[in-house]
Amino acid sequence: MNINPSTAPSVPIFDVDLYSDEVMADPYPVYAEMRQAGPIVFIPLYGIYFVTRHELVRYAFSAHQDYCSSRGIGPRDISQTQSLRPPSLLLETDPPAHAKYRSVMMRLLSPAALRRLRAKFEAVADELVERIDGKRSFDAFGELTRPFILNAICDAVGLPKEGRDHMLTYGEVVLNLPGPPNWRVDASLAQARSDGTLEWVDRMMRRQSLARDGLAAELFAAADQGEITEDEASMLVRIFLSASVDSTVYTITNGIKNFIDFPSQWEELVAQPTLAREAFEEVLRYNVSVKTLFRTTTRSVELGGVKLPAGAKVGLGFAAANRDPEKFTDPDRFDVRRRPVGHLAFGTGIHTCVGQMVARMEADILFSRLASRFSRINLTGTPIRKINNALSSWSSLPVEVTPKGAS
Ligand code: HEM
Repeated sequence: MNINPSTAPSVPIFDVDLYSDEVMADPYPVYAEMRQAGPIVFIPLYGIYFVTRHELVRYAFSAHQDYCSSRGIGPRDISQTQSLRPPSLLLETDPPAHAKYRSVMMRLLSPAALRRLRAKFEAVADELVERIDGKRSFDAFGELTRPFILNAICDAVGLPKEGRDHMLTYGEVVLNLPGPPNWRVDASLAQARSDGTLEWVDRMMRRQSLARDGLAAELFAAADQGEITEDEASMLVRIFLSASVDSTVYTITNGIKNFIDFPSQWEELVAQPTLAREAFEEVLRYNVSVKTLFRTTTRSVELGGVKLPAGAKVGLGFAAANRDPEKFTDPDRFDVRRRPVGHLAFGTGIHTCVGQMVARMEADILFSRLASRFSRINLTGTPIRKINNALSSWSSLPVEVTPKGAS
């Protein structure tokens, strides 16, 4: 799509469709093959390079002058194609403009701001956990992780109660769009157009739709102060609508599935619910929902001894890097006591996830409550996979919980 394979003769060629359902569902064996084949591989089907070694992924994330974001964080060069929406002021913006918007968002999500949000998030979790305790059998995605994250975030941002489900439909579009122009993009766009999601998002980006005491209102206050323009404030609200829900819901859902698959790890957490935060770091390392982001080379560069031309699309496989045996011992083992310092699930460098402390707080709240209350979580039916162009997780996880003290 972007580079002629003949420009990459010295790079191992991988005839793999990274976006097929099969690979998206479990990309780790392919990542391991790529890592063995060389520091960088070339995937002709999409005309992209792909990096799986921890050291190189970390380096490319940090070298933002050579690996830019403004040409898109997917395999398509957005400077060459028509885009449905204006580029993100953070994810798809390079310095110096990026720093201005980032500092506004960082202030909104500062540790002090999160301390204020925590009690509200806990109240949302308490109500849900109470409800599932009454039911015992439920869908861990539909009745727990999804309503928890959706309601906690929507309340924090200041979105009205009505229409919140549009967030996930919009998230689907946002996560499919940077991928290749496949049926997933068409299907999610058709859905978002037909059910009013795109109009809802446009409406929610306006000041008058939003609560006066939420995070969105703080963005418009920054506009009133002249720090950013009113349009920029709207665009930053759009970031909350697109970046704050899906990645977290689906990573936490992956975490619950891990606890089901590895009951001894759940037992560790039940014995010590304060491990919740640490356990989430291992979920992020082991199988974060979003697995890859792209950069575009701004000039001809060398990475891991391989020459890459200017304008090359380079996939930074951060989920692959998180299973690099050079970095993590026995990387395919899920171990809640591992303390996987240096995992790259939130990226690194100037674009490192601005909401990572929000995601950590959410997981801590939910996992610690579940572990304090339930000694076992078992599957009661067949889970349904969730796959789009950016992430893989579960859209249904039928489970049964056993309260502590019950046999
Ligand atoms: C488990 C949950 C999450 C994961 C795995 C995740 C992952 C990431 C990653 C890998 C990046 C780096 C992007 C890049 O380098 O191109 C990123 C950036 C970002 N994330 Fe997250 N994220 C999560 C939760 C959140 C939440 C809860 C929010 C908002 C409240 C958020 C907002 C953002 C924003 C605004 C950026 C762009 C930062 C920039 O470009 O400067 N994320 N995220």
